[in-house]
Amino acid sequence: MATKKYNFYAGPAILPYEVLKKAQDELLDFNGIGLSVMEISHRSKDFDAVIKGAEEKIRKILGVPDNYYVLFLQGGASLQFGMIPMNLLKSKDQQADYVHTGEWAKKAIKEAKLFGKVNIVASSEDKNFSYIPKNIKFSENAVYVHITSNETIGGIQFQTYPDSGNVPLVCDMSSDIFSRKINVSKFGLIYAGAQKNIGPSGVTLVIIRKDLVENSADGLTTMLSYKTHVKEPSLYNTPPCFGIYIIKLVMDWIEGLGGLSAIEARNEEKAKILYDFIDNSSFYKSVVEKESRSKMNVVWRLNNEALEEKFIKEATAAGMIGLKGHRSVGGCRASLYNAMDVEGVKALVEFMKKFEMANK
Ligand SMILES: Cc1ncc(COP(=O)(O)O)c(C=O)c1O
Repeated sequence: MATKKYNFYAGPAILPYEVLKKAQDELLDFNGIGLSVMEISHRSKDFDAVIKGAEEKIRKILGVPDNYYVLFLQGGASLQFGMIPMNLLKSKDQQADYVHTGEWAKKAIKEAKLFGKVNIVASSEDKNFSYIPKNIKFSENAVYVHITSNETIGGIQFQTYPDSGNVPLVCDMSSDIFSRKINVSKFGLIYAGAQKNIGPSGVTLVIIRKDLVENSADGLTTMLSYKTHVKEPSLYNTPPCFGIYIIKLVMDWIEGLGGLSAIEARNEEKAKILYDFIDNSSFYKSVVEKESRSKMNVVWRLNNEALEEKFIKEATAAGMIGLKGHRSVGGCRASLYNAMDVEGVKALVEFMKKFEMANK
């Protein structure tokens, strides 16, 4: 038998075994119709139940109020970097506030600049994006405020969200959505690529307050307008059907575990195991400020790059997959998304201990 694999990839990432198993069982015959869910019309009654079921579960688990739309879009979170300013800023004179926390915020900022004035209200660039800025003051005339909930590459995460007053808070939650309880009503718009905590790549979840859609720009190309996807609920064109189906299964799985309270407790336990171990070691070093540490993407360094390379190579041979830090920053990173269990993190720590003993 092959060595058991522990999947620490940052995304696409680990999915619950139970979800993959169920998808496998139903792959050739969905709902007893004798066809795969991939082969049926997105307007059929069987798929209608899938997409409506996925939305219903998302609303229930996350607590999405009625004055928000839930949309399943395409183009990744990266397309949202552009769609958000394109829809919410109505002229080049309008301004949006952005918090600059790393690689993903930077990409969002770049796109926003194409559509209006971008005001960087806070940045952690001075310390190589190793912390989340605090006491952020937003400007009063901003149309919206944009933050990145969790910087997947740098390994920093908002522990609590800033209060943007009456200005809608727009949040990229790609790498920590459904990892903890949130108050959706504090946000104007939440978006996330599915491929970390909720499904396969190809689906982007957008949760947007209804008034923001109503007030959004007109005259946009059809597919890039939120109005289009609201008018024909995520079905203007062919949606990523299989991805939405998997999201529905992941939602069932989250519910079965006890919802977001249970998920959050489990994520806290996992992150504590790994951070405690790193803190007590002089061999591995955390490079981010303690109060800003991500519970989803734990990053650390070893003494030199050659040792890091050896670590990753031996970890891979031992079945610990995806521990290489992002190419832009190097080092090591373990992504501990919802589907990673406590046992997987303990196995990683055991491996890290052994590697330290052998290479000290
Ligand atoms: C925080 C964050 N935002 C945006 C993206 C881009 O997502 P996509 O590849 O779905 O466009 C990622 C991808 O890893 C991410 O981690």
